[in-house]
Amino acid sequence: MAATSEAVLQVLCNLKPRSTQINSLGHKNHRTISAFHYGSNVNDRFRSLSCKCRQIDNVADAINEKIDPFLNVDLSTNGNGALSSTLQTSSISSLEEEAWELLRASMVYYCGNPVGTIAANDPNDSSILNYDQVFIRDFIPSGIAFLLKGEYDIVRNFILHTLQLQSWEKTMDCHSPGQGLMPASFKVRTVPLDGDDSATEDILDPDFGEAAIGRVAPVDSGLWWIILLRAYGKCTGDLSVQERVDVQTGIKMILKLCLADGFDMFPTLLVTDGSCMIDRRMGIHGHPLEIQALFYSALLSAKEMLTREDASADLVTALNNRLVALSFYVREYYWIDMRKLNEIYRYKTEEYSYDAVNKFNIYPDQIPPWLGEWMPNKGGYMIGNLQPAHMDFRFFSLGNLWSIVSSLATSDQSHAILDLYEAKWADLVADMPLKICYPALEGQEWSIITGSDPKNTPWSYHNGGSWPTLLWQLTVASIKLNRPEVAENAVKVAEQRLAKDKWPEYYDTKRARFIGKQAHLYQTWSIAGYVVAKQLLANPDAAKILVNVEDTELVNAFSCMISANPRNKRSRKSINQSFIV
Ligand code: GLC
Repeated sequence: MAATSEAVLQVLCNLKPRSTQINSLGHKNHRTISAFHYGSNVNDRFRSLSCKCRQIDNVADAINEKIDPFLNVDLSTNGNGALSSTLQTSSISSLEEEAWELLRASMVYYCGNPVGTIAANDPNDSSILNYDQVFIRDFIPSGIAFLLKGEYDIVRNFILHTLQLQSWEKTMDCHSPGQGLMPASFKVRTVPLDGDDSATEDILDPDFGEAAIGRVAPVDSGLWWIILLRAYGKCTGDLSVQERVDVQTGIKMILKLCLADGFDMFPTLLVTDGSCMIDRRMGIHGHPLEIQALFYSALLSAKEMLTREDASADLVTALNNRLVALSFYVREYYWIDMRKLNEIYRYKTEEYSYDAVNKFNIYPDQIPPWLGEWMPNKGGYMIGNLQPAHMDFRFFSLGNLWSIVSSLATSDQSHAILDLYEAKWADLVADMPLKICYPALEGQEWSIITGSDPKNTPWSYHNGGSWPTLLWQLTVASIKLNRPEVAENAVKVAEQRLAKDKWPEYYDTKRARFIGKQAHLYQTWSIAGYVVAKQLLANPDAAKILVNVEDTELVNAFSCMISANPRNKRSRKSINQSFIV
């Protein structure tokens, strides 16, 4: 595969063959020569809009508010109970224009071609760390925005260049990560040309986590890459990219890495802490929901894209088996609502048998005191993580939203998740959508679980902070369920402050009232998340490029598998019942 990608890149760049450099550990790093352009600074982008920030307690409070002439804001309702408008149309369109201008200014060029967007683009920021890189997960909303705008090249280039990085031999203290791993991010660097002091060359330099803070493994990168690849094919109608031999090999390498046998007893993917959007220690090691939802989505997407040939027959079988087991498992064991909480509350423990009701030996005392109060009568959600004797009851937005988008959640569960957003608007949306997780870890729990992380203090950053980028995932989910008003209302809340606050990465405090303590400004995925939400609300049909519909073949296969397995027969009744939730 490396050879094919290399050839393609050389044709693309029409430049010299790749140079080979030896790193300090004696491993070869292949780098590609290119021209280098970097997104120009747009100085007038600091123009802020005239709106002022507001505090909205919940959907009902917002709906009851009237026009405030000073703010030029109308929070009255239309017939559906939705907010009719918050900013005047002209302000909104200039807001969107500003967002597009910033998005374009964040583009990173390689060989004269756009290949991605920089994570944050604030010229006044002196502590950029690795925010001057193109992050795979951060680029997804940018890529979708460009696709929906009909600008396909940047997405195609991104897909093909990151594919080439996948085959790199990278090491961390003499240990290589599994083949097929996609980097967390990459940077275009300009370095002196070998043997010619007067010239420079550009290289793509990926980070697989070996330089990242905490050395976290970017498990989500490959999954997002597959999801974007499918979206590219669906949006452009051009299937030639996904059908290329090197791209097919890339898909298979990611799948092989994820489907490899291990010691695990569960169909969920076992990962270390910080392996996804939350890329710091936050007690999400094991089987975090976000990874499971992306895994499910990537498996379904790959199933659609893999070309039929003998070599992939076994892989397709493994993939189908995993899809069936994963959807059953998450729907059954991650789901909680009032009914399920009551059941857990009365669980018997220490059950040794195939038929155990409390399979993971959950002690009812684990139900945190806040949850009994917080869980609405109507609504529910997937818990954050499940392990032996351990349920992480925190609510994580991305995992829940992507469970809707990927159909990992049943239709009833999906609606219940959106019901929860509506019922808990003041906690999950508040003054800026969307809470990354709820609630925050505090006191001793914060100290033990985060390792006393000063960046993840309660209600900040990953620990209960609010991330505007999550707007786009909320939008896809609510459009899929034909409830776009949920996303519309959240977008209207965001529009009050996002541009005025210079598009921060995240917000702090329980109600998201402050710009995050260490938040970067002009954070590209905050900008792109807003753009995509607006594009999809204007053209809801386009959300199809991201949605996975429930695979009936799999549902049938599931019934057959259960009947064929004599051990499962013992608990067949309860399994079947819960599957049709
Ligand atoms: C932070 C976020 C991560 C993101 C990166 C770049 O590390 O936790 O999800 O990809 O910043 O924006």
